[in-house]
Formats: sequence, structure tokens, C-alpha cells
Amino acid sequence: MIPRLVLALETSCDDTAAAVVRDGREALSSAIAAQAIHRDFGGVVPELASRAHLDLLGPTIDRALAEARVGLEEIDALAVTRGPGLLGSLVVGVAYAKALALAADKPLVGVKHVEAHLWAPLLDGQEPPAPFVAAVLSGGHTELVLARGFGDYELRGATRDDAAGEAFDKVGKLAGLGFPGGPPIDRLAAAGDPARFRLPRAMTDSGDYDVSFSGLKTAVRRLVGERTPPFDERWLADLCASFQAALVETLCAKILRLAADTGARAVVVGGGVACNRGLRAALGEGGARLGIPVLLPAARWCTDNAAMIGVVGARRLALGVAPGSDLEPVANLEETGFAPPAQSAAGEAR
Ligand code: KG4
Ligand code: ZN
Repeated sequence: MIPRLVLALETSCDDTAAAVVRDGREALSSAIAAQAIHRDFGGVVPELASRAHLDLLGPTIDRALAEARVGLEEIDALAVTRGPGLLGSLVVGVAYAKALALAADKPLVGVKHVEAHLWAPLLDGQEPPAPFVAAVLSGGHTELVLARGFGDYELRGATRDDAAGEAFDKVGKLAGLGFPGGPPIDRLAAAGDPARFRLPRAMTDSGDYDVSFSGLKTAVRRLVGERTPPFDERWLADLCASFQAALVETLCAKILRLAADTGARAVVVGGGVACNRGLRAALGEGGARLGIPVLLPAARWCTDNAAMIGVVGARRLALGVAPGSDLEPVANLEETGFAPPAQSAAGEAR
């Protein structure tokens, strides 16, 4: 049976998050304390993140419980992200959850962060029909997953170098737009000409579902050349639009081909890059061409949050996963058990 109320914690990167989830699909609250401290460094500093999680977890959990109007004693179970992510940050979250579960005498289950992104559409009342293809695209992730059902996943594609969000952030830095680069590039791209600069679309014919963005980033660096901010407005908008178009086209080609090759019944996206308007529009059009729905979670369920951890935690407990299991923090995706298919995907690819 799905536990009625789950308190979930998420501390895999630089957001300290807690949420209360009802019946495994409804967020009664979703509290997030974004760690502002990393902005000054133009990226996430792991040591600062762990320390900030320790300071912020208590108040964030209090806020999640207060907003949901429930007391800890009314919670039926706890869930926490065990990985992948920054090891120090994961250790803080898991230790905190263990202590809380022990003190409150509640069952606790560990959750894989990437798996949680796959099921985020449930928070909007959308259940992806299996099999579906999910693309998890953030500052640290670029994973193309084939989901055959709950708990049955195959990692079919990934980046060979930079994560999709990392590419946005690096180009944002080159373009003098600060960190993170995704939101301002998205905004500027809307007013720019995507055809002004012809930028590389790497690996689109590679026959697998992997992507690579380092060549694209280098091409942007070359375009910026010796220029320094402030840049000409028109030029900057066109640069953002051209970069975004190249990245979106590359990603969409792989995501939609994986969906077509595997007979997927839907496409799901998650991670901060899934907020990108260009990507959402292109995937929507591609899905319509394939005749399958593209499930685009609301922005607050695309970026890191604890509600999606609660969704998966509730389902795992309902399936009989022993409370207290999977609580070893792990940094890498492979260590969480997300595996490529037994034989190479290339045979299936066109
Ligand atoms: O999932 P997320 O909030 O955190 C992790 O990285 O785990 O994703 C953040 C990433 C950043 O790289 C940011 O630049 C990117 O998502 N991002 C976007 C947009 N909003 C956030 N990228 C493109 N377009 C956006 N609108
Ligand atoms: Zn994430």
C-alpha cells in the first residue's frame, strides 16, 4: 500500500529541499532553500554545499511540515536521495534522514535522484505510459533512459563530455551572463536569430544515443573571440539563439530517435534544462510527429525538489522495499544501479 504521507529530503547538489507528499503523487508542500553562496564562485563549491545543507535542512524540513500543515508524528514514512550527487552533500542528507527516522520511529527508504526525475510528471497528475523515454538534463546530468515500468530502467544515452546544463552555464559565462547561464540564454534566445551563426551539431549521425557539447562550447568561445562584455545586444541575442538551437536540435534528435526505435509510448523530460522553452517547443513538435505525448513537468518539478523523491520513495515502500535499505550514499549514477543494456544499443539504432 502506498504510504499516505511521506516526508522527503533532497540534498544531492546545491539545493536543500524537503517536501510532504500525499498518496505518492500529490505535493502538500515543497520547500527549497537554494544556496546563494555558490553564485559568487560561478559554480557549485562542494565543501560549501555540504556545510550549507547542514545549516538549512532543519529549517527547510520545518517549513515543509508547516506548509503541509502536518506534524512529524502524522508522517507515515521518510524518503531521502542516496545518489548520484556530491558525496558530502548526500552524506549530510542521508545522516539527517536516518536520525530523524530513528527519533520519530518511522520507516526510511533511499531514492535514486535520476529515477525521481523520471516520475516527476506524477506531481502534475500525469502518469507516463510505459515504455517511455526520459531525458534527465541538468547541470550534472544528461541521461537518456528507457523506462519499461517502475524500477525497470535502461540507460541508453549520455553525454560524452559536458552535461547539457553545464554547456548552458559555460556559454553563459563566455557571454557575460553570470551563473547559472540557462535562464538568461533562454530569455535572450527568444529574441534572437537562431540561423545567424551556424554552430556544430555533434554526433547526430553517430548511430547511438550519446551526445557531446564540448565542440559547441568551443565554437561559441571562438565566436566571442577577443570581444568583452557589454556585447552588442543584437549580436548577443543571435549568439544565444544560435547556441540554443544547436543544443536543442542535437538533444531532440537523439531523444526522439530513441523513442521511435524503442516504440516508446511517451517522452518525459526532467532537470533544470527541461525548463528551456526552445527545448519544450521542439520536443512537443517532435512528439506530435511521432504521435506520442511529451510530458513536460511544471518548472518547479523539473528542477531539483524533494517532492519527486517522495513520489518514488512512496512507490518503493508500496512495492515492499524494506525500510532502511538503499541508504548508502553513492556519488555516481552507475553505483545506483542504472545500467546500459546488456548488449550494445548500436544494433538497434538506425
Ligand atoms: O536541475 P537543476 O536545477 O540542478 C542541477 O543541476 O542539479 O539544473 C540546473 C541547470 C543549470 O545548468 C541551468 O543553467 C539549467 O539547469 N537551466 C536551464 C534553464 N533553467 C535552468 N537551461 C536552459 N534553459 C533554461 N530555461
Ligand atoms: Zn536533478
